Amino acid sequence: LKKIIITIDGYSSCGKSTLAKQLARKLDYVYIDSGAMYRAVTLYFLQNRIDWTTTSAVVAALKDIHLEFVPNSLTGMSDMYLNEENVEHMIREMLVAEKVSEVAAVKEVRDFAVAQQVKMGARKGIVMDGRDIGTVVFPHAELKIFMTADITIRVERRFKELYAKNKQISIEEVKQNLELRDYIDANREISPLRKAEDAIILDNSHLNLDDQLELVMQWVEDAT
Ligand code: C5P
Repeated sequence: LKKIIITIDGYSSCGKSTLAKQLARKLDYVYIDSGAMYRAVTLYFLQNRIDWTTTSAVVAALKDIHLEFVPNSLTGMSDMYLNEENVEHMIREMLVAEKVSEVAAVKEVRDFAVAQQVKMGARKGIVMDGRDIGTVVFPHAELKIFMTADITIRVERRFKELYAKNKQISIEEVKQNLELRDYIDANREISPLRKAEDAIILDNSHLNLDDQLELVMQWVEDAT
């Protein structure tokens, strides 16, 4: 089988990363979570009080940011490192989630992340998930998937994830954050979230992970 590029885009908390990880494992591909890069930049901006509405401040700050995906032998996946520090847990917190879509709408931030993402695909054999992977990062990817799921199901899934780590979190808070992020992501000027014309829609509202994998493995076969 020849190695291909698989892109998975879609709304927040559709299960993109869960599917992407399993798919990468099955195919022995590299999995790249592009959202982690926007989250890490956001974390840096928050920690260093960078005003991301000011272009010169953003440009200067980006020069001091080094992002790296470092394999974690325990999880078999990669952790996000920001300037040599493992920030995998920190970037998943609500504080970052609340601001990441604003930061990800900044042109200079997107140029910074996309340039690195494009390089990661050079050798193919990659599954990357995000919002603009099939439209902007890899417009010529062999297989593009656009994931959706009912909002109530997405809220429930994300709530369970976050609640496991933080009992203070409320369903309402999670719902508002998802809706706000989806709104900003779909309506921003630069690379808004949208389905690539040649992407296949995967609505997983009522599909378990095995069902999804079976479907997608068939698409992979068709594409290779
Ligand atoms: O995928 P995840 O939910 O972790 O992404 C966090 C945020 O990063 C998204 O809500 C979106 O604002 C931004 N993002 C993006 N483009 C990508 C991946 C993520 O703008 N390719």
